[in-house]
Amino acid sequence: MIPASVEDVQEALAEQRYVADRSLAVAIHLAIQMGRPLFLEGEAGVGKTEVAKVLSAILGEELIRLQCYEGLDVSHALYEWDYARQMLAIRLLEAGGQHAEVTDIMSRDYLIARPLLRAVEQSAAGQRPVLLIDELDRADEEFEAYLLELLSDFQVTIPEVETVKAKVPPVVVVTSNRTREIHDALKRRCIYHWIDYPDFEREVAILRQKAPNVSDDLAAELARAMQKLRAMDLFKPPGVAETLDWASAIVVLGEERLSPESVDETLGVVLKYQEDIERVRIRGVSELVVG
Ligand SMILES: Nc1ncnc2c1ncn2[C@@H]1O[C@H](COP(=O)(O)OP(=O)(O)O)[C@@H](O)[C@H]1O
Ligand SMILES: [Mg+2]
Repeated sequence: MIPASVEDVQEALAEQRYVADRSLAVAIHLAIQMGRPLFLEGEAGVGKTEVAKVLSAILGEELIRLQCYEGLDVSHALYEWDYARQMLAIRLLEAGGQHAEVTDIMSRDYLIARPLLRAVEQSAAGQRPVLLIDELDRADEEFEAYLLELLSDFQVTIPEVETVKAKVPPVVVVTSNRTREIHDALKRRCIYHWIDYPDFEREVAILRQKAPNVSDDLAAELARAMQKLRAMDLFKPPGVAETLDWASAIVVLGEERLSPESVDETLGVVLKYQEDIERVRIRGVSELVVG
């Protein structure tokens, strides 16, 4: 169901155990109501992808995900011809003594719809799927230019076949880890929202929601240690995903509280670069534990 107000969005997010401040709820509400893409930017692991998953659950619509990568081209994102099926169709026609025409194999039946076409087709059929275009900063600028076009009219023309146009635009969530800047033109189409690392209170709240078997004391210790780690000027500061992994690791080891020993043993759950681990060890792991 579509939430009717910012408060409804906040409530729905909480029901899905997503901890959001009001500004994110406002951005989501505006994106849904105004039919504009939501552009979420922030460091890795701050909860951008999760927003799209949670929205799909809230709206009761399918999540269609396009994971971007270097070299992603339009055919992988939009549609491809199913050559194997086309060949088979030609053979069957010929086996039946018929002469196969090109038009026999240039129809929708012989297309493989990729995420963008699927989203537009579903929207043309009256649904409103959640289209996640994840980590757009990894794709090339050429692809970005194509996306700009698609996001302006949600229309796809398949030259030999048809033009499909969305009745109501899908709910689009674009994310970027900001390894490069996304063009202004694309951002201008979107409702922009920066997701920061959570502060202490929000991180404790996330732990309460996502790691309910962790005690209040341990949740507070983990959140405090995370704040300190993120202030340490590391090569790759840990995100919320790492906080949740850390909580699990401590529980798996049968510990109830953080200690210098348990921190030292589990640093590899939180930090993924040897330089960062060394830096923390040099400063002393006990610094992460004491109040
Ligand atoms: N605000 C939040 N509330 C609840 N869980 C969160 C929140 N932010 C992040 N998480 C959790 O942290 C993990 C990483 O989030 P993810 O969306 O994958 O990050 P990103 O896409 O920004 O790299 C997920 O397991 C997600 O559920
Ligand atoms: Mg992500």
